[in-house]
Amino acid sequence: VLCWFYIFPVYRLPRDKEIVEEVLRQGEIWQKNQTGIDLYRKLLTDCCDPQRMFAVTKENSPMGKVLWYDGEFYHSHTVNNETYPLFVQDNPLQLPLKKCAVVGNGGILRHSKCGRHIDQADFVMRCNLPPLSKEYVEDVGTRTHLVTANPSIIEKRFQNLLWSRKAFVDSMKVYGSSYIYMPAFSMKPGTDPSLRAYYALADTSSNLTMLFANPEFLRTVGKFWKARSVHAKRLSTGLFLVSLALGLCEEVTAYGFWPFSVGLDEQPVSHHYYDNILPYKWFHAMPEEFVQLWHLHKSGTLRMRVGHCP
Ligand code: CDP
Repeated sequence: VLCWFYIFPVYRLPRDKEIVEEVLRQGEIWQKNQTGIDLYRKLLTDCCDPQRMFAVTKENSPMGKVLWYDGEFYHSHTVNNETYPLFVQDNPLQLPLKKCAVVGNGGILRHSKCGRHIDQADFVMRCNLPPLSKEYVEDVGTRTHLVTANPSIIEKRFQNLLWSRKAFVDSMKVYGSSYIYMPAFSMKPGTDPSLRAYYALADTSSNLTMLFANPEFLRTVGKFWKARSVHAKRLSTGLFLVSLALGLCEEVTAYGFWPFSVGLDEQPVSHHYYDNILPYKWFHAMPEEFVQLWHLHKSGTLRMRVGHCP
């Protein structure tokens, strides 16, 4: 029995209340640590090469290249005449990015007044086409440089773009001229809606540029965090973006990451800043992810904003 204990020490995730206490203990104290920033950039570059690999490009995915889906076994897409022309030539971002804000969708953002802060960043990343309507602007800001879109949103919210292309293109206008980052080659059913989204934007000369997430990058980032105690079927979108930001940006601040049901004032917090629809259990491991992000915050590698912004 002792032997088992040494091989598999019991790892217990802290309870919500313990997390709240820990965050309150730390308070507003935060100090940037350049060594930590450089170390994580190097670790992520070595494992996952975000600069070259985060998107599918003509450079990393030439004709005939086999893209293995990262979200399921034994599915692949061979780059062909139909898909190759849709890829950007190379990483289109002006690197290094300076101050980056990664905005998760946590309910902790509601009444945070972080909008101004977020908008001051040089590069703002958001998850899953979040609402940016007037009522939220004070809390989440208005600017976006990269926004992820899950193919399932295209299916559900825009009826797979079979007859609602205008509604889709119109609702994309709030993201200005940002990049829209879609995991087109992660799950088989996601490819078709992602290509439709590409054509809907291209056909209407939209200001948005489509980038398809590179499944190889998503897989290597998943492994990176698995080796650091994040055990989930799939990483959350937010952690993919934080990883990307740590690889590409000089400074990273994360907002809206709080997968707990109580806030720092011990009042209930909704799951999202715009609704309280909970995720499918066991798919992501957001509390485990939060613990890792909090370590990075404490070490000065990135800054987490979990309370109100000054
Ligand atoms: O699609 P997914 O469930 O990953 O994300 P979402 O609900 O649209 O939220 C975007 C991201 O914000 C998540 O991927 C998480 O990383 C983060 N999040 C959080 O930390 N706490 C919450 N209560 C909600 C979201």
